[in-house]
Amino acid sequence: MAVLDIIRLGDPRLRIKSTPIRRFDTRLARLAADMVETMRDSQGVGLAAPQVGIGERLIVVEMRKEDFEDDPQAGKLYVVANPEIVRDRGDKIVGDEGCLSIPGYVGEVERTEQVTIKGFDINGKPIRVKAYDYLARIFLHEIDHLDGVLFIDHITDLTRLRRLVRDPESDEVTEEPVAAIPTRA
Ligand code: CO
Repeated sequence: MAVLDIIRLGDPRLRIKSTPIRRFDTRLARLAADMVETMRDSQGVGLAAPQVGIGERLIVVEMRKEDFEDDPQAGKLYVVANPEIVRDRGDKIVGDEGCLSIPGYVGEVERTEQVTIKGFDINGKPIRVKAYDYLARIFLHEIDHLDGVLFIDHITDLTRLRRLVRDPESDEVTEEPVAAIPTRA
């Protein structure tokens, strides 16, 4: 397994519509394993193949138990090929999102509270996932990546986007307003 390079905002590969996975072979298994390792190495909760420069419909999602102690959905790793939203229900809720391809920014995005996702596991077996709250948000964010959509595209009001600034001495992170939606790295 290997930690892959994560491409950043400004790279055109983040804006391409990815193609469906057709072969559930060892190459796919290796890509999935590398994406899981890359997500964990970056302390992310999800990663989509376009973020490592691969224009294919594959996502990995994981809310680690130690980071989400109070959420019963935590502690499970999802690897989903060709994910599709089959159902969304409930209210739209606003919550903070960031993205490993847009480091240093967080913003408030409105997402549906509950979703059902269908797709295939790494062996090509159909799977279905019901997710709510933060896990639903992660799935929706990662599936967006497969269509070249980034969380900043959902932000129209700049007061809903903040920049994270880390003080190199104290290592403390503070938030600053931003003057414009970032469009390039
Ligand atoms: Co992202």
